[in-house]
Amino acid sequence: MRIIESITEMQQQADAWRREEKRIGLVPTLGYLHAGHQKLMEAARKHADVVVMSVFVNPTQFVQGEDFELYPRDLDHDARLGNEVGVDVIFAPQVAEMYPDGYQTHVEVTRITLPLCGRHRPGHFRGVTTVVTKLFNIVKPHIAVFGEKDFQQLAVVRRMVRDLSMDVKILSHPIVRETDGLAMSSRNTLLTPEEREQALLINRSLREAQALVAGGVRSAEEILDRVRSRVSAGKGMNVDYIELRDPESFEEVARISGPALLAMAVRIGKTRLIDNCVLQAAVESP
Ligand code: PAF
Repeated sequence: MRIIESITEMQQQADAWRREEKRIGLVPTLGYLHAGHQKLMEAARKHADVVVMSVFVNPTQFVQGEDFELYPRDLDHDARLGNEVGVDVIFAPQVAEMYPDGYQTHVEVTRITLPLCGRHRPGHFRGVTTVVTKLFNIVKPHIAVFGEKDFQQLAVVRRMVRDLSMDVKILSHPIVRETDGLAMSSRNTLLTPEEREQALLINRSLREAQALVAGGVRSAEEILDRVRSRVSAGKGMNVDYIELRDPESFEEVARISGPALLAMAVRIGKTRLIDNCVLQAAVESP
């Protein structure tokens, strides 16, 4: 496994693979990998001959006052986990390589970025779509894999690829959970043991919502009231949002008639966690 830091070197490697008619798979990450990321690499491997994982803590998607500086980083750890699942190249550029002096170009999806994380983290998705576009131009992948925990991000990337006619197939992977139900996230390592315990309320409340729907409840208000009060009852839990939205248009949903995205972002102490499930009359388990 090679680690490449330079954009030119990565592009040359991608060109060489393409000349050999190899299919390139990309898994973009912020690093500090966990078993959930490894599932994304394994999924990429099924659809590609070579797998590139990018490790880049992208400053432009962190809004002011967020944890950019605190975000955990450990390239040796990431290389070990990447190696375990047969990653061919880690692309790990420095910030100055991606955003040199004078940088002034951004990519923005304008509508489905407005609610949920877009509302609570203004500018976040512009940072994501900009860096993902750059990664696509650098790694030149045929396919790229994104996790469904960042449901809105996945939809935004898909929208961008469609709108800008990018020649990349976007694949998604279901949320990977710890055995007790907590969605895997690099940010889980920032939780104290007590916060980690409280964080279980997130998945439990999603399951409760699924049980309500399975039991015939269709009113969004009733479901949201129950989920919000369950989560807010946790010690130190501050809700950024808990909302029911159409999973494609991201419009608010008043009744569960088709699939409805139940998405939440919760701050526990200094750590912000997100999770979601798609509710429908025929229930999917989280
Ligand atoms: O989901 C993430 O880890 C990041 O938002 C991504 C897609 C790697 C872009 O920096």
